[in-house]
Order: sequence, then C-alpha cells, then structure tokens
Amino acid sequence: MGLPAGGDRAAAGRAELLGEACQRALAYLEGLATRRVGPAPDAVAALDRLDFPLPAAGRDPRDVLRLLDEAGSPATVASAGPRYFGFVTGGTLPAAQAAAWLGAAWDQNAALTAMSPVAARLDAVALRWVTELLGLPAGAEGGFVTGATMANAACLAAARDAVLARHGWDAAGQGLAGAPPVTVVAGAEAHTTVRKALALVGLGRDRVTVLPADEQGAIVPRSLPALTGPALVCLQAGNVNSGASDPFRPLLHWAREQGAWVHVDGAFGLWAAASPATAGQVAGVAGADSWATDSHKWLNTTYDCGIALVREPGSLPSSMAAPAAYLPGGAGREPMHFTPQSSQRARGAEVWAVLAALGRDGVADLVDRTCRLARRFAGGIRAAGYQVLNEVVLNQVVVDFGDPGLTARIIAAIQDEGTCWCGQTSWRGRQAMRVSVSCWSTTGDDVDASVAAISDCARRVTGRGGPGR
Ligand SMILES: Cc1ncc(COP(=O)(O)O)c(C=O)c1O
Repeated sequence: MGLPAGGDRAAAGRAELLGEACQRALAYLEGLATRRVGPAPDAVAALDRLDFPLPAAGRDPRDVLRLLDEAGSPATVASAGPRYFGFVTGGTLPAAQAAAWLGAAWDQNAALTAMSPVAARLDAVALRWVTELLGLPAGAEGGFVTGATMANAACLAAARDAVLARHGWDAAGQGLAGAPPVTVVAGAEAHTTVRKALALVGLGRDRVTVLPADEQGAIVPRSLPALTGPALVCLQAGNVNSGASDPFRPLLHWAREQGAWVHVDGAFGLWAAASPATAGQVAGVAGADSWATDSHKWLNTTYDCGIALVREPGSLPSSMAAPAAYLPGGAGREPMHFTPQSSQRARGAEVWAVLAALGRDGVADLVDRTCRLARRFAGGIRAAGYQVLNEVVLNQVVVDFGDPGLTARIIAAIQDEGTCWCGQTSWRGRQAMRVSVSCWSTTGDDVDASVAAISDCARRVTGRGGPGR
C-alpha cells in the first residue's frame, strides 16, 4: 500500500515529535525521586503561560510539547513518585507505563470486539486474572471503568436491578417510579463514593440504614437489623483512613439470611486478598455478590482504571447492555455491555501487562512491601514522639500531632517543605494526618527521609525541640 503524497514527511514529523515526548517523559520520570513532591508556588503561578486565548492559527506541535513540559511538568504533584503518601494514589509500574504508551499509540476503542479484538481479549484475560488473584468466584463477570466510584455505581446498578427483579420489578426497563422500596444498609464508615454511587443509581445517598463501626472503622457485627423486601448491603474492604476491613463472614451470614445482595467497596483494600500475609483481613469477602476495586491505586497502573465485578453471570449486561442495529455483537464478551460507558480506552491492557510482569508473587510482594513500609512509617512517627491513631494493619497510617490547629499547621508545613506529601483527615473526631504507602518505588530510605522531614516540620511549627504535645 503506497503512502499518499506528503505521508513520509508527516511520519517523519511524528517520529521526531514522539521521540521528543518520550525523552521528556523519561526525564520527568527520572526526576521523580529527587524533586520536591508538591509543586513550588512559582511553578503553579507559571501555569499562566498555558492560559492564553484560543489561537486562530495553530502552532508547531513541537513548540506545544515544549511549552507543556516546561510550564506543565514543574506544576505537577509528584504523586507517581516514591514519597507521595497522599490519598491512596499509587505510582505507575514500568510495565504499566509501557503498556499505556503502546496503548496510546493503538488508540483503540475497547467498546466492542469488532472495534478492537486485542482490547476485548485483554479485558477478558485481565478480568479473569484479577478474579483469580483476589480469590473471587470463578465465573464472576466484570468490566473496566474510570475508578472505584464508577465501579461502585455499576455494581450497585446491577444489584438494584437484581433485587428488584426478585420482587417482580423490571428496574432497568421501568425505572424506580412505583418500584418496591429498596432497603440499603451500609457501615458508618462507608466511603463517600458509595453514597454518591447510591445517588447515581436512584437509591439515594441519605436513605441508608447505618450500621455502627468500631474504633478502626469496621462494622460491628452485632444487633443487625431484620430486612424485608428488596435489600442491599454495602460492605468495605479497606477503610480510607485506617485500612481496616469489615468482618465479612458474620455480615455475609446475616445478609444471606435476609436475602440481601452484598456489595463490597474494596477500592484498594481488596488487594489485601492477593497476599497470604494480609488475606485474613478480608476473609470471606468472596462470598459477596459484587466487588468494586481500582487498579490505579495499589496495583500501580496509570489513571484511570477501576474494576467492577459481579458474581451472577448476566447481571451486569442486564443493567448495562445497549444494543443497536449498527453495533455488531460478537460471539463472546463485548466490553461495552458490561460497563456504563460505551466508547472506552483499552484499560485491560495495562492490568494485563502488570499482572503478566509481576505474577501472583509480585503482586503479593507489592502488597507486603508497602504494608511493611507503612509499619516502618508508623514506628518512626511514634519514635519521634507523636501518636499513631490507627492499628496499622495495611498500608495506611493516621497521625495526630496534638491539638487540631497544630496538626493542620504541621501538615501545611510538610506539604510546603517538599520532601514528602501527606494529606489531612479527621479520624474519630480528631484532626489528623493521613499517610498511604501505595507506590511500587517507595523504599525504606524514602520513609526514613520523610519521617525525618515530618519531625523537623513539627518541631519548627511547635517552636519546640520535642513533639507537639
Ligand atoms: C474505599 C474507597 N472507595 C472508593 C474510592 C473512590 O475511588 P476512585 O477515586 O477511584 O473513584 C476510594 C478512593 O480513595 C476509596 O478509598
């Protein structure tokens, strides 16, 4: 096949542009371990360089790339680096980065097999591997979505439709007007996005029957209510602050007796199941009906990648399928019929690449290593004289520096100093600093340097030689 006139020139220009993009991206990645974690204020101020009126005539793409890197890269947060402990973010494993770069070149629409046989196959294989790795029932079906929020929403839509169907109501067809009321139960510490997902699927964020949680944020499995009619129970693997998981066995036993659908939000905590050392914390989780998790957090793939999994074959498609005459149905699984979105990038490719590169042992090691480093972090904080508020069972540490105002000022000082980045939270009524160790490249030295910087900031803020209490 001959190239149209000018094709050689266009290809050469593309190669030069992408070559430069690759070099700049590598330089960025190589600088992650040594740069300040939060961007400097002058770098954020310089973002004005990117904010100009829409040009009438386009610019040379090489100039656009240079401007993007020179003005944009310094104003990133080094959240892909080893000393970012904010939220539960994770970095990007080289295998995932490489697959993402190749995937960007592929530019596949993973909606249908006809649009991308490779994306459809990688989706299916990656979902099977995730299911195996997490010890979930073989045959569970799933799909890749933007994150755990949408994974919760997809699972809860399937749950809503299934429990209403058992009571003779076709929610996917008729909506919720006139439907029997669905009882929704969740723990006091359910993640805010579970409530958002409940609102999205028409079940309401404020109609929830709340079960009390213990001091680690796990549901107390006592005095559980009797449920009548269609019912849905939302449980959690991995509290966003403490890392604690709900006691699945007794809760599932009760929920089964009540005929309820059990959904588990395990955005990061479900990955505890991938290591023999932590699997006990989520024992019994495989007995649920649906699970939401992320690969962009603890599995260290790029954003955005969440995973919705449902035990009962056919449940997701009966809520998500969108047939049309122009959309060919293949003989096998069609990704768009398992997810809220139709067009979608080939998210499964990165998950496939990471799981192929790490294997079962590598994922267990990632989980174990980050949990070990979280314990090291907690040990350093305690040795410096400050209080760790949670039992460090997973990769999360919650730190109290004393009074609330002081804690807020110390966190601001840490973020400003730049060695590491930790966020704020409120835990059991106390202002606290939240640490999540979830990046593949974090080392013991990173943790020690971060604890030292945190101690210095705390000393500076309190104006004392010792801890702030
Ligand atoms: C327990 C839990 N559920 C849900 C979410 C939402 O995940 P995402 O931001 O990927 O939508 C998070 C994010 O931190 C989480 O920790």
